[in-house]
Amino acid sequence: MNKKWMFAAIGGAAVVTVLLTALLVNIFERKTEGRNPFYRVVEITDDIDDPAVWGKNFPHQYDSYLKTADMKRTKYGGSEAFPHIPTDKDPRDVVAVQKLDEDPRLKTMWAGYAFSADFREERGHAYMLLDQVFTERQNVAKQPGTCLNCHASTYTLYKKLGDGDITKGFEKMNQIPYKEIVHSVKHPVSCIDCHDPSTMSLRVTRPAFMEAIKTVKANQGIKEYDVNKMATRQEMRSFVCGQCHVEYYFKGDTKKLVYPWAKGLKADQILEYYQEDGHKDWVHALTGAKVLKAQHPEFEMFNQGSHARAGVACVDCHMPYQRVGAMKVTDHQVRSPLLNIDKACQTCHNVPEAELKSRAETIQDRHMELRNVTFDALVDYINDLKEFKDIDLEKSPNKKLAQARDLQKQAQFLFDFVEAENSSGFHAPQESARVLALSIEKIRQGQKIVAELRKEKTGK
Ligand code: HEC
Ligand code: HEC
Ligand code: HEC
Ligand code: HEC
Ligand code: HEC
Repeated sequence: MNKKWMFAAIGGAAVVTVLLTALLVNIFERKTEGRNPFYRVVEITDDIDDPAVWGKNFPHQYDSYLKTADMKRTKYGGSEAFPHIPTDKDPRDVVAVQKLDEDPRLKTMWAGYAFSADFREERGHAYMLLDQVFTERQNVAKQPGTCLNCHASTYTLYKKLGDGDITKGFEKMNQIPYKEIVHSVKHPVSCIDCHDPSTMSLRVTRPAFMEAIKTVKANQGIKEYDVNKMATRQEMRSFVCGQCHVEYYFKGDTKKLVYPWAKGLKADQILEYYQEDGHKDWVHALTGAKVLKAQHPEFEMFNQGSHARAGVACVDCHMPYQRVGAMKVTDHQVRSPLLNIDKACQTCHNVPEAELKSRAETIQDRHMELRNVTFDALVDYINDLKEFKDIDLEKSPNKKLAQARDLQKQAQFLFDFVEAENSSGFHAPQESARVLALSIEKIRQGQKIVAELRKEKTGK
């Protein structure tokens, strides 16, 4: 063979190889396209937490994700931007409304606890890390790394700390002081926290949720529940949110993040759990009672409502589909559905927008009325207990006073559970009302005891 031919032959073989490879790549791509109709620009691994990198492959989802920085109010929800003069201590130029100024009764309820120093309206996911770093609550109390679980993209940090084992990493992270470990995270909740990078299917990445949902399922007779293998797609569309929008506490010295669901998801079942566990969050500054703080139990409360019963998921209302050309894309601007009623509600309810808004607000108006009545009763009861504050039950045991203080703890937790639930009654109107009624009942029992204590004190 002369040289010319040899080149031609090699060249020919090369052309055939290139064509064959192209064909194979094409077939492979079509197969993956069937599963996932996206044009992949970059390779995404299980170690990339930067949403901007994922955004190169999924620009629509990324664009809407960035819009969680938008702030807009509804009658009771959404969020509103208040200008803030940046300082060295707190460089934020806008903050959300200070709820303690809006309703000073909150300060009475939380007297002696970090929450009475700063408690703002929540806002979009874009702010979660920033707002946690700069809350005044970081200055009045030493917080553990546990706080980070729900305020940052922690998946890659769990892997790093646990040498690939996220549960081990989670347990380690909880024990490191917040001010040290916060430098190891960079982003608010990110793509990698909700999605498996190889398939883009939803996944749960928070060990606290994995453990807690396992207990809930075990109580329903389902053994060895593995949420990432056994949950249905519709369940996952609520579970990804239930990783953070839940009541929680830090257990013992390890500061482990625990969701108190062993007895069930209802407020009174959770209270029963705490009563048995003996956990307290702080000693009330005005009364000396050992009390609890409830936090954002959206997942628990939502599960008691008719929408959950009908199989509707958080994502149906808070991340509805939007059309982009011919594509149906999940709106990643997680926000109040009342800012987006045509997509969030009208897909299911064939009712005019104004009517849907009015139905939701009617539920919320009634809820707020009942909430306010209960709150006044609670504050009255706290004021009643003030006169016994200096009695140290360790030194001078008094069964009645111990009971009266315990009833404050119970009434306050039940009220706070509803107050901290951020839908203003919408997620489960009747359940919210039931829990408020239970709170009023505890206050009534407590006030009867206070009357007896006063009689003993004055002899009248
Ligand atoms: C049927 C629709 C629907 C479903 C499903 C739903 N929500 Fe909501 N959610 C609402 C409405 C309506 C509000 C009230 C918004 C307002 O007042 O602006 C709300 C409020 C909220 C808020 C406060 C938002 C704000 O702007 O103040 C959070 C947080 C929230 N929901 C989380 C969840 C979670 C987590 C789930 C699932 C466990 C869930 N929601 C399921 C309709 C829904
Ligand atoms: C189980 C998840 C979870 C943990 C753990 C958690 N948070 Fe949050 N946090 C949330 C959710 C959900 C919201 C938004 C809903 C709300 O504000 O009620 C929120 C809101 C906030 C806000 C904004 C509203 C406000 O209260 O001013 C701050 C600040 C905050 N958290 C600080 C902290 C600190 C400090 C810790 C640790 C002591 C902590 N968080 C631990 C889930 C969590
Ligand atoms: C808080 C959880 C959460 C985060 C964070 C999140 N997603 Fe999603 N994503 C969802 C949910 C829920 C769906 C709907 C999945 C379903 O219905 O099975 C979804 C769907 C998707 C899909 C499938 C197509 C579609 O639009 O329905 C893509 C692609 C996607 N997300 C990309 C991203 C990217 C890129 C980011 C980061 C910029 C991101 N997601 C962040 C929860 C999340
Ligand atoms: C990693 C924890 C985490 C996950 C997962 C998460 N959230 Fe949040 N969410 C937060 C925190 C923290 C805030 C408050 C941020 C702030 O105030 O700075 C928040 C705020 C919100 C708000 C208030 C937005 C506003 O504009 O007022 C809504 C609504 C909401 N989340 C719904 C959801 C839904 C629905 C899901 C599931 C698709 C979800 N969240 C998943 C932690 C989480
Ligand atoms: C995925 C479907 C779906 C979406 C999205 C949805 N709903 Fe519903 N809604 C239902 C179903 C199903 C029921 C129960 C109806 C029944 O079974 O009679 C219901 C019941 C209701 C009720 C009466 C029950 C109650 O809890 O008081 C109201 C009010 C309501 N929806 C308002 C809304 C609003 C407002 C939105 C948007 C924020 C919304 N829905 C979004 C399916 C949906």
